[in-house]
Amino acid sequence: MAIVTSKEMFEKAYKGGYAIGAFNVNNMEIIQGITEAANELRSPLILQVSAGARKYANHTYLMKLIDAAIIETGLPICVHLDHGDTFELCKSCIDGGFSSVMIDGSHHSYEDNVKLTRQVVEYAHDHGVVVEGELGRLAGIEDDVNVSAKDASYTDPDQVEDFVKRTGVDSLAIAIGTSHGAYKFKPGTKPQLRFDILEEVEKRLPNFPIVLHGASSVIPEFVDIINRFGGQMPDAIGIPEAMLRQAAKMAVCKINIDSDLRLAMTASIRKYMAENPSHFDPRQYLKPAREAIKAMVARKITDVLGSDGKA
Ligand code: G3H
Ligand code: 13P
Ligand code: ZN
Repeated sequence: MAIVTSKEMFEKAYKGGYAIGAFNVNNMEIIQGITEAANELRSPLILQVSAGARKYANHTYLMKLIDAAIIETGLPICVHLDHGDTFELCKSCIDGGFSSVMIDGSHHSYEDNVKLTRQVVEYAHDHGVVVEGELGRLAGIEDDVNVSAKDASYTDPDQVEDFVKRTGVDSLAIAIGTSHGAYKFKPGTKPQLRFDILEEVEKRLPNFPIVLHGASSVIPEFVDIINRFGGQMPDAIGIPEAMLRQAAKMAVCKINIDSDLRLAMTASIRKYMAENPSHFDPRQYLKPAREAIKAMVARKITDVLGSDGKA
């Protein structure tokens, strides 16, 4: 099995009422944990790489690690650029073997977003690569995707048909109340997503794959471990898993998850370090950390995405 695009994955997911997990990768243990879980559950998979991940780990290292995971598992894996912000970055990933790129023009004016996205689509499609665009802005605190709550805005369903028609994108990320990072809602408020917007988008774009960014659930159990072992994340709060499950049954075919992996890994390492203060071999704490990633991905595949057995 080689690197594949998400085209067939999304077609099957749309019809089958499930979604594909797009998990952010930054190093070997994360790639191994994700792909081992997906392999055991025979789930299709998107591994996504941000500009920050490319800077941290290097494009070639990440590609070779993903190649190794494909050899080990035989899984169909789509390799996707997460939040590409320029044509040049998208081109570099396409030329470097990615099968999918996101061009995130959501911080530009509508017309500039259309123009930039169209430019990426033309180059990508000429090279057999698929493209995700974005309409609407998510709030969030991640370094490279920082949009303040004030500047965030829901997707306008009246724009989606025109955007897809003029750009030729293969999937569309929309803003319905999810956001990046571990602090998605104000403490004490009830998490809510605008399912009415998703329904409207679905009506305007029949059979078209929709993407949800900022879809970590920030599971309290993991935040508790972090806080119990020296961390300070008292107000962390995410998207309830039941809401994501509901979205996966609708037009949402790709669900992006990074923060939940970070929390699982960090909780594991904090606990290990606190309980084994004399240990200093990285393999000793990275082994349970990799297992924690694997368990988190398995939970997502079975409880949220519904993609088990679909590879
Ligand atoms: O949405 C962004 C992802 O969580 C990647 O974050 O830019 O810090 O790698 P990063
Ligand atoms: P989370 O921060 O909710 O995991 O979102 C990740 C994401 O959208 C990556 O593009
Ligand atoms: Zn994102």
